[in-house]
Amino acid sequence: QRHLISAADLTRDDAVLILDTAEEMARVADRPIKKLPTLRGRTVVNLFFEDSTRTRISFEAAEKRLSADVINFTAKGSSVSKGESLKDTAQTLEAMGVDAVVIRHGASGAPYRLATSGWIDAAVVNAGDGTHQHPTQALLDAFTMRRRLVGRDAGLGKDLDGRRITLVGDILHSRVARSNVDLLHTLGAEVTLVAPPTLLPVGVETWPCEVSYDLDSTLPKSDAVMLLRVQRERMNAAFFPTEREYSRRYGLDGERMAKMPDHAIVMHPGPMVRGMEITAEVADSDRCTAVEQVTNGVSIRMAVLYLLLGGNEPAVTHARTSEE
Ligand code: CP
Repeated sequence: QRHLISAADLTRDDAVLILDTAEEMARVADRPIKKLPTLRGRTVVNLFFEDSTRTRISFEAAEKRLSADVINFTAKGSSVSKGESLKDTAQTLEAMGVDAVVIRHGASGAPYRLATSGWIDAAVVNAGDGTHQHPTQALLDAFTMRRRLVGRDAGLGKDLDGRRITLVGDILHSRVARSNVDLLHTLGAEVTLVAPPTLLPVGVETWPCEVSYDLDSTLPKSDAVMLLRVQRERMNAAFFPTEREYSRRYGLDGERMAKMPDHAIVMHPGPMVRGMEITAEVADSDRCTAVEQVTNGVSIRMAVLYLLLGGNEPAVTHARTSEE
């Protein structure tokens, strides 16, 4: 594939190749010099029209570890504030000779438009578009689950088969939920969504997952529980649940976490709202993988950029490193 727009576009073989390549990339982080020459001479632009902490920094770290030239663009402070369109912004970057565009945009479909419009020749990677998709987040989540629940040497064909994953919270506005449902289904996991009825999208019954309104009865049957933030910024204030009423039914505290099987993990893509969907006790516990997910995000993004831009050379095993 030339672009990564949606987790739904990945076959099981595609996804497993990315996860396996990310395992190789993770080894680079253990080296004294954390760099590979793989993308030397290639230029990647990070085009962020929406706020981000983890995704933006993680892509930049991944690009630099692969020795790419990196250009960071944020809409704030750019000519977008003067009314410049996505097309003109993209063509300005294309004129500078970029090989890949990593784009985050508030409008669902913006990365697809960029990839298919003919405005640019560069590979396009979706870093989150509106409420639609966030494929590298789903990949780093699957990578984290595979490491914690299956083991690093998971073996082809066995990835996450039959693992029971529960996503809790604002499914309606969550691109992370959509991407995870798509990818986890492809990888053979059984997904359950738990949310208030007002935070479930129309048509959710057609998604390849179960739906429940009862978190307490779902926890004992879960291998991983992923908590999602209630996205105030995409919501009419009239529909916003109070912190107290939300956390009472859908928040994870120590008492609820004790209902999970001993091996089960707590996940969060970030940013977290402590006290709402997760208590500080749970967020800071050994069972919470939120920080590990961020670390794994760098390996996943290295793998994605390598596979899109790096060609057919083996990623790490036989490649010469910057130390050689
Ligand atoms: N998980 C995630 O996408 O976080 P950011 O919005 O900080 O990038």
